[in-house]
Amino acid sequence: MQTTALLAVLAGITCLTLISLAHGRGQNAAPQRGDATIPGYSLGRPDLMRSPVSLEDLAQLEEVLLFGEEDRAALRRSRALLEPRVDEILDVWYGFVGSKPQLLASFSHPETGAPDAAYLDAVRLRFGQWILDTADARHDQAWLDHSHELGRRHHTSAKNRTDGAEAAAIVPLRYLLALNYPISATLRPFLEGEGISAEETERMHRAWIKSVLLQTILWSEPYTQQGTF
Ligand code: HEM
Repeated sequence: MQTTALLAVLAGITCLTLISLAHGRGQNAAPQRGDATIPGYSLGRPDLMRSPVSLEDLAQLEEVLLFGEEDRAALRRSRALLEPRVDEILDVWYGFVGSKPQLLASFSHPETGAPDAAYLDAVRLRFGQWILDTADARHDQAWLDHSHELGRRHHTSAKNRTDGAEAAAIVPLRYLLALNYPISATLRPFLEGEGISAEETERMHRAWIKSVLLQTILWSEPYTQQGTF
């Protein structure tokens, strides 16, 4: 094997090792998921910037996405299936991000290229809570403000700030949007189960596809010029 190829393989193994360390499996560290004291977790925080998207804008957006009460109910039913498997789901999603250097770059130092294990770990805890929040589907003002904050955290406006990370300054918009498909597609097996009909899996899956799309649309606002969102 040529030296460059060998180095590339070794770099890949190092990245994946760092990511599995960052998964934090086996750690007993409090606070637990589902707990609003998760470090950096922002849903319901009173000091959050108010979203420039109003509840009326949100209702109109949901209407265009064909997101309705049936979807809200399906998301809520999905929680019972997903909650016990949050770690497995995150293993799949983190595995995907870790396998694509263009994505891992967002968690890595811009000059050295070294992935930041502590950053990956901190974000993972909040990502797990996001699964539960998405299933809860409480699209109220607090959730809108939190969604805006999550958009800012992917954008230069607030990336790295929550965890004091020294990583890339932005998640490129193209990847933010592209990740919609892998996230939604890989969730489907987790919506299947004994006693769950194919129609029910389909209903829950469709609701998840719409919700993830809705959220990444909201998160794209900080990337746009004023008045263009
Ligand atoms: C469907 C697309 C995506 C979803 C649903 C998603 C979801 C999330 C969630 C739930 C968080 C934690 C937010 C918090 O509470 O602080 C997060 C943070 C983060 N995500 Fe994403 N994400 C997506 C796309 C991407 C992509 C493409 C990347 C590039 C690798 C990425 C990189 C990050 C980074 C670096 C953070 C930490 C940001 C910070 O510094 O606070 N995300 N994401």
